[in-house]
Amino acid sequence: MSPPSDNPDTITIHRPDDWHLHVRDGAMLKTVLPYTARVFARAIIMPNLPDPVTTPAKAGAYRRRILDALPDEGVASRFLPLMTCYLTDETGPAMLEEGFADGVWAAAKLYPAHATTGSADGVTDPLKLTAVYEKMQEIGMPLLIHGEVTDPDVDIFDREAVFIERYLNRIVRDFPSLKVVLEHVTTREGVAFVEDHSGPVAATITAHHLIINRNALFEGGIRPHRYCLPVAKREEHRLELRRAATSGSPKFFLGTDSAPHAIGDKEADCGCAGIFSAPTAMELYARVFDEEGALEHLDTFAGQAGPAFYGLEPNHEHITLARGETVTPGNIDIGGEAAVQPFGAGRTLNWEIRD
Ligand code: DOR
Ligand code: ZN
Repeated sequence: MSPPSDNPDTITIHRPDDWHLHVRDGAMLKTVLPYTARVFARAIIMPNLPDPVTTPAKAGAYRRRILDALPDEGVASRFLPLMTCYLTDETGPAMLEEGFADGVWAAAKLYPAHATTGSADGVTDPLKLTAVYEKMQEIGMPLLIHGEVTDPDVDIFDREAVFIERYLNRIVRDFPSLKVVLEHVTTREGVAFVEDHSGPVAATITAHHLIINRNALFEGGIRPHRYCLPVAKREEHRLELRRAATSGSPKFFLGTDSAPHAIGDKEADCGCAGIFSAPTAMELYARVFDEEGALEHLDTFAGQAGPAFYGLEPNHEHITLARGETVTPGNIDIGGEAAVQPFGAGRTLNWEIRD
């Protein structure tokens, strides 16, 4: 798709934040974090480590490891990880309240048990966490939801829509002031849910769901590096996501869901879900907004709507995006024999970031 010819060649926006990010731990953390910190000022850090981040003590320790993994140059003083609490059947409202009051928790993340990578300790019945929702509503703590049912008899492409029907509608009806983010929305039903609800309900949208539809998973053969959850849907859904993201509505904001896995874990008999988009995420979003003739709404999506939802100020710094060449890195070593493969590895993009 070529952009309308009267689009601007440069655009300056608030320095963006990533409202949905996996940075992992150890050598992987050290490898992937600089790609995010190069561009983004803050990131909501997903808590689905092998030992999930379920307590303020674990979050504090993980936060420290993240800060220690930052490169020494300028970004170390700027980048702020915002920690999230991994909800389980056992999570208590008092611990959430205390951690939120202390500034440890920015939000809590609900994974339905076994919905995705690292969700084995997730919630078995999302309708049962009423005491948690009640408390989060009272204190204004955002609930971030992986919105997919897990029943094997629900088609994988319908799992988001069914989750909305079965759970989300009930949750927002019973807790009308609860701040809810439908993370990595992938369907027209998800977009409609967010747009139709007048309360504090929002969604993050990944760059890859704006760019690929489900055909891309099978283009010429099976493509494990394009597999994530929720899985990419039909073209009509992708177009609806593009409309919502570029509409200027503050209910939709940037969340990359960059989720690195070692290549050996992706190219396997049972390959992991997750797309590693951090190296060029902002350039990819710029391309989409350019193609949609909506660069004037990029600042709302990337720089303003997220902070507003979380009750924070936009970043004071700005970045400039300009037409120009950015080459997506190829495979990136993470130590030993292992490497990660970025989304679109080796491809040249037509936007670049100028600080
Ligand atoms: O594709 C995904 N990967 N979706 C998720 O929800 C989790 C993530 C991961 O942690 O790898
Ligand atoms: Zn995620």
